Amino acid sequence: MSDLASSVRQRRTFAIISHPDAGKTTLTEKLLLFSGAIQIAGAVKGRKASRHATSDWMEIEKQRGISVASSVMQMEYGGCVINLLDTPGHQDFSEDTYRVLTAVDAALMVIDAANGVEPQTRRLLQVCRARNTPILTFVNKMDREVQDPLTLMDEIERELGMTVVPFTWPVGMGKSFAGVIDLRAKHLRVFEPGEDRVQGGDERLPLSDTAALTQRFGMAYDQAAGEIELLGEAATPFDAADFLAGRQTPMFFGSAVNNFGVQEILDALTELAPAPAPRAALQREVAPDEPKFTGVVFKIQANMDPAHRDRIAFVRVMSGHFERGMRLKVVRSGKELRPNTVVSFLSQRRELLDEAFGGDIIGIPNHGVLQLGDTLTEGESLQFTGLPFFAPEMFRSVEVADPLRTKQLKAGLQQLGEEGAIQVFRPELGSVLLLGAVGQLQFEVVAHRLEHEYGVKARITGSRYQVARWVTCDAADGGETELKRFINANSHRLAWDAVNAPTLLLEYAAELRAIEENWPKIRFHAMREHA
Ligand code: G4P
Repeated sequence: MSDLASSVRQRRTFAIISHPDAGKTTLTEKLLLFSGAIQIAGAVKGRKASRHATSDWMEIEKQRGISVASSVMQMEYGGCVINLLDTPGHQDFSEDTYRVLTAVDAALMVIDAANGVEPQTRRLLQVCRARNTPILTFVNKMDREVQDPLTLMDEIERELGMTVVPFTWPVGMGKSFAGVIDLRAKHLRVFEPGEDRVQGGDERLPLSDTAALTQRFGMAYDQAAGEIELLGEAATPFDAADFLAGRQTPMFFGSAVNNFGVQEILDALTELAPAPAPRAALQREVAPDEPKFTGVVFKIQANMDPAHRDRIAFVRVMSGHFERGMRLKVVRSGKELRPNTVVSFLSQRRELLDEAFGGDIIGIPNHGVLQLGDTLTEGESLQFTGLPFFAPEMFRSVEVADPLRTKQLKAGLQQLGEEGAIQVFRPELGSVLLLGAVGQLQFEVVAHRLEHEYGVKARITGSRYQVARWVTCDAADGGETELKRFINANSHRLAWDAVNAPTLLLEYAAELRAIEENWPKIRFHAMREHA
C-alpha cells in the first residue's frame, strides 16, 4: 500500500450530534483526555460559553472567538488520526451544523439516558440519514436515575428508524450503577465514579463467574443478565455494511463526566468507523488516495479582529497530500492560492501545519478569496457537490440608516452571505435587500456585525415573506426558456440569492401549491446544493 493510501486509512473524521445538555462538551473533553491530546480535564469545558445566555449576541461573539480553536480537534489514538469537528450548539445556527456534517465520515450521537431522543438530536440525525452517514450511539449519564435500557433502545429504534446493536449493556443505574457488560469480550467493567481515571486500570470481571457477580451486584446484575438474555433472542447481529450505510447503530452506555465508557467510544471509532471514502464531484468521483490534492470549503469563520476582516476557510481534504506553500486553484474563480500559513488543529494548538491527508481539515486564512462550497485543486476543474443551503424560514428587509453607507452595507452583506451567516436576496423589482434566516438569532448577529465590522447601522425591519423556494427547470421541460418565462411572470415575487440562483418568495405556504399546479414544468426546491 502506498504511503498516501495508508495515511488515508488511518483517518477517522467525525462529529458529535446531540441535544443541548446531553453531554457533548463533556464527552469531547474526555475523548481528548483519553487520547492524550490534552492533559487536564476542564480545558474544553471552560471555554464553552454559558448556554443560558445564548440569546445574547455578546455570547455569540464569545463563542465565535473560541470556536476557531475548538471547531476541529485532532487526536491520535490506536494508530489512527481522529478529527473531531465541533458543531454549533444553538439551533438558530443549525444550517452551519448541517454543512459541518457534510465534512465528516461518521457521527457520534450522544443521548441523555434520562431524556431519550430529543428534538435537536432527531433533526441532526435526519441530516445524517439523508447522507447515509454511519452513526455510533453513546447513552450518557448512567450514574443518574434514568430510563431502563430496553425502553431506551426501543425508543431510539422507533424514533430514528435504525436498528440498534448494543455493544455494551448497563448493570443498574444511578446509585446502583455497577458498570457495563462488554457483550463481545464477555466481561463486566466495574464502574467507579470520579474524573481521575484515564485509560485502563478498570476492574474487569468475567461473566462466567455468575455466582460472584450476583453476590456482589445483586438485583442489578440479575436484571441486566435477564435483559441480555431477552436481547439475545431478538438481537440483530452487527453487520458492518449495514452500519456503514446508516441502517444499524452500535450502542454504548456510560457516564462521560465520570470518564466511564469513553475508551469504548475511542475503540469503536478506530475499529468500526470508516476511513474517508470516495466523494462525488460534478465531473467524476474522487478517491481519497489519489495523488493530487483536492479539497472543499465547508465552513467559513470570520476572525474576531474587526479591523482585519480576515477569515478562515475550513477545507476538508478530499484527496492527495497537502503541503504548506503548495499552489492551489480555486476552481470557481480560477484564482491561484498559495497558502503559507495554514492552521491545523493538532492537540488543540493553532499551530502551523505542514501536511494533511484525505479526511483532515485545514484552515486557510484569506480575505474573501474563498467562499462556502469552493473546490480547491492542483489545477483540475472539479466541483464537489452536496454542500446544502436551506430555504430560509424567516425574512427581514434591510436598509441602511445613512444612505452614504450603502456601499458598505452591500459589501458587508456580501461577506456575511459568503460566510453563510445569513442569506441575502436581491429582489427582481425594487432596491431593498432581503435577509433570510432559519433562526432569529442570525438577524441579531448580522446587525451587530454590520455595525461593528463594517461601520453600518442597518435598519432591519419585518418582511411579508414567509416562504422561499429556489426554482429550476430541467432541459427536457424547456430549460432556460421556460424558467425565464416563469421569472418574468413572477417578477413581483422573485429574487436572486448570493450565487444568482432565482428564488421565489411567498407570503403563505398555501400559495406555493397553486403555483406548483400552474407551473408543472418548474421545480421548486427547499434545499439548494452548492454547485
Ligand atoms: P452539552 O455540551 O451537550 O450541552 O452538555 P455538557 O457536556 O455541557 O453537559 C451538560 C451537563 O450534564 C453538565 O452539567 C455536565 O456536567 C453534565 N453531565 C455530562 N455527562 C454526565 C454524566 O455522565 N453524568 C451526569 N450526572 N452528568 C453529566 P451542568 O451542571 O450543566 O454543568 P457543570 O456545572 O457540571 O459544568
